[in-house]
Amino acid sequence: MCGIVGYVGPRQATPILMEGLRRMEYRGYDSAGIAVLDGHHLDIRKAAGKLGILVDEIAGCPPHGTTGIGHTRWATHGGPTTINAHPHTDQSGRIALIHNGIIENAPAIKQALLDRGHVFKSETDTEVLAHLVGAFYEGNLEEAVASALRDVDGAYGICVVSTDEPDVLIVARNGSPIILGIGDGENLVASDQSALVEHTRSVVYLDNGEMAILKADGYRVRTLTSRHVDKPVNQIEWDLATIERGGFEHFMLKEIFEQPESVENTMRGHLLEETGNVRVYGLKLSDEQIKGIKRIIITACGTSWHSGLIGKYMIEEMARIPTEVEYASEFRYRNPIVDAHTLVIAISQSGETADTLAALGEAKQRGARTLGLVNVVGSTIAREVDGGLYLRCGPEVGVASTKAFTSQVMALAMVTLRLARLRAMSLLDGQRYIQAMLKLPSQIRSILDRAPEVELLAERFANATNALYLGRGVNFPVALEGALKLKEISYIHAEGYPAAEMKHGPIALIDENMPVVVVAPRDAVHAKIVSNIQEVRARGGKVIAIVNAGDEEISRLAEATFIVPVTLDLLTPVLTIIPLQLFSYYVAVRRGCNVDQPRNLAKSVTVE
Ligand code: M6R
Repeated sequence: MCGIVGYVGPRQATPILMEGLRRMEYRGYDSAGIAVLDGHHLDIRKAAGKLGILVDEIAGCPPHGTTGIGHTRWATHGGPTTINAHPHTDQSGRIALIHNGIIENAPAIKQALLDRGHVFKSETDTEVLAHLVGAFYEGNLEEAVASALRDVDGAYGICVVSTDEPDVLIVARNGSPIILGIGDGENLVASDQSALVEHTRSVVYLDNGEMAILKADGYRVRTLTSRHVDKPVNQIEWDLATIERGGFEHFMLKEIFEQPESVENTMRGHLLEETGNVRVYGLKLSDEQIKGIKRIIITACGTSWHSGLIGKYMIEEMARIPTEVEYASEFRYRNPIVDAHTLVIAISQSGETADTLAALGEAKQRGARTLGLVNVVGSTIAREVDGGLYLRCGPEVGVASTKAFTSQVMALAMVTLRLARLRAMSLLDGQRYIQAMLKLPSQIRSILDRAPEVELLAERFANATNALYLGRGVNFPVALEGALKLKEISYIHAEGYPAAEMKHGPIALIDENMPVVVVAPRDAVHAKIVSNIQEVRARGGKVIAIVNAGDEEISRLAEATFIVPVTLDLLTPVLTIIPLQLFSYYVAVRRGCNVDQPRNLAKSVTVE
């Protein structure tokens, strides 16, 4: 989703801003722009479409100056046009502003400003905010921004510059991330660490309601009401190499292939083989508190919601705690039944998903204890929860989530073990799970070694226009995730269903042109899924089955099979999803799609 970058210091701002925007491209956007101050002269360049168009436009005559701001916009208010692209200016044209988020009372503010003679060029709420800052400006940009924001409802991360104060960046945050990058004789700001890491590892995370004033030689943080805030400086732990493609054609493929290591990293230091238990200090839950949990609600969006569904199967089966999984976007607007004995687990790769954050806020307000399973260190969700577990799968750049999914499932397995061992699970069962978990990285590697088999399969089915994904039990969420992966990057219409549900409707779609991907490891419901495959075959459907070795029965019925290694039933999703990720990747490449930045999608959905 939208990206913010800003620079103030001795170096030329344009190359730093453009590189920062390039690093944030993975977040998804549909226009881009920069504003650079050369003394009291403000040079703004914007373009609809991909960053390459802006690069071409400024080539030959790049904006000159050492203070600047840059933005990639994902359209919400108004179409993805050059006029709607950020930065936007105030009525005088002296103040420029970039903004992530949504100003909910923009229509009312706009009307008041129109009544005072303001003229607007774009359809955006951001231009309204820029005009509002200008309307408050009386020679002090910091105070004008604070006054404007006190009148605003909604979510924002903003960065503002002015020709009257050419060596200052003003930033503010409410609900949309802003990170200060603290340099040596220069300072930066961004909405995403990836835009900062090339220049500095020292960062300050702004919290909601805070503003920062940055100059080349220093910065300070305050609230909208002028109270000074002392902020800790944190260190980014990963380096630039971790967010480069490392020889792979796409980030998505690189991230699929990273899974043996990322899954291992998620588990590292947590598993206690001898006691068949896990040690997760971050959960911050005493044994007594764990025993007091009566109910669990898992809330998340998209792929993270799918891993949450797998968590439900694990927790109910192993820890016997009633568990519900709810879309964060639904949870936040219901009147959910939550109390002090309810544990709410928020799952998010980015830690910034607006709906998940709001659901978490709702749960906290109702007295629930909250846990976060989050990948991005220092992200808002990670800082808001009472306790949790970092996924530690490294930066995920491809818009289609892959390695975060398998790490989420591993994190859920670990949380489940911790809950289960304090309840009914025996030492031997705990040890059995841990031994099986430790084997998963090498089992994933053995699947990846056979990626060319999946590539051949993808070639055969790349021209399909629809696909059905079926699974049962814990592999039903895998079917959902496989279908999501296919549709989001190859634009093939795909649906996931519990296999037996097919006969209640989707079976009408099956004919010889419809590939049906069936996730069918030899688990407790294997015999049932064989019957479902027979139903598909009887209607001419072409079955691609994910099976364990030696499954003659399904091999006879299926058009094609892919073999995955055997593990415990509840851990099978970590293996069965890998060929489905590869399948969607190869189909999308074959169809010439932009795999890492699929149309209309954003990596981190920071608006409702
Ligand atoms: O960062 P989050 O895990 O909170 O993101 C949730 C979804 O937006 C995300 O999983 C989305 O569905 C991905 N595009 C899936 O590949």
